[in-house]
Amino acid sequence: MHRVTLLPGDGIGPEVAAAAQRIIAATGVRIEWEEVKAEPVTDRRQERYLQEEWLESIRRNRVALKGPMATPVAHGHRSLNVALRQTLELYANLRPVRNLPGVKTRFDNVDLVIVRENTEDLYSGLEHTVVPGVVEGLKIVTEKASLRIARFAFEYARRHGRRRICAIHKANIMKLADGLFLTCCRRVAQEYPDIEYSELIVDNACMQLVIKPESFDMLLLQNLFGDIVSDLCAGLVGGLGVVPGANLGDEYAVFEAVHGTAPDIAGKNQANPTAITLSATLMLEHLGESGAAAVIRSALAAIYQDGRRLTRDFAGTASTTEFTDTVVAAVEKAAAARQVGA
Ligand code: NAI
Repeated sequence: MHRVTLLPGDGIGPEVAAAAQRIIAATGVRIEWEEVKAEPVTDRRQERYLQEEWLESIRRNRVALKGPMATPVAHGHRSLNVALRQTLELYANLRPVRNLPGVKTRFDNVDLVIVRENTEDLYSGLEHTVVPGVVEGLKIVTEKASLRIARFAFEYARRHGRRRICAIHKANIMKLADGLFLTCCRRVAQEYPDIEYSELIVDNACMQLVIKPESFDMLLLQNLFGDIVSDLCAGLVGGLGVVPGANLGDEYAVFEAVHGTAPDIAGKNQANPTAITLSATLMLEHLGESGAAAVIRSALAAIYQDGRRLTRDFAGTASTTEFTDTVVAAVEKAAAARQVGA
């Protein structure tokens, strides 16, 4: 029995999180979910804050599954997602991007892993008005965080049989900030002679990624470029609906879909739970339940290959519930077959 914190989130979050819970249960893996209240604290100005209860629960269980949380654009409170990553030192954002069999895209053989620094860079939230009409936003890069994320990437490569890491940067323009990041990556790369290390300027990297994504193995990026390139890469394999994500630190792990709250379809039973379910497979692997993770992945692959029970974002007509029922049935069948075979 594992204990896991569940943060259902906003918008479609509760719908897709409930679907993922049902699909995990179908594998036979037993999880005691500690669901923490979805609504974060708000003050009189409707500012929202991280709740101590969320943090306590994650600190207690060390592992969480999280739905998306809304952040207002150009005004209002800081992103709760960013605050959570910073508070819990979830310094590595991991996004494996590979084709899901059955999902037709322009490319067939994408299989890359993105490692994004999660705690600093332009996400530090340090912005101020110097004089009216002039705003300064600070990009923070530290040796400590850069070495830490580089080491995470190289260790991941070794553990998962990855051969090549490409650090992506703009050190031709941000000579000090991105220069420090590169210096740290190069230092760590020397400790891992078995992993091939290279560098690309971010604009060139984007072009190469949309021309020949199959030539990349692992990408190592700072926070902002990591955010942008991650979504670009999701687009290579069918979009945010089919890509999982994890926020990892030395102490805690929070697994989440990379899409947002989808306010346009929230509450309509139309959301696709694939992304959060794939994130849950990363969580199952983290918990040592790789067999269950594999069962879910092959059930999803079979359903996409069959193509008859897909949600609207994949031009299907299935509701969230119908899609989830189909996955649950396929997972239960595969889990039972595994038990017979064992
Ligand atoms: P979004 O990902 O919520 O929506 C973009 C489009 O994709 C919409 O048309 C939506 O209906 C569709 N979509 C997204 N997820 C889907 C799913 N599972 N199934 C079917 N369709 C799906 O991005 P948007 O509109 O930019 O952001 C909305 C809110 O989400 C904002 O408040 C933003 O801050 C927040 N957000 C939160 C994230 C997180 O918690 N990690 C990540 C990204 C955005």
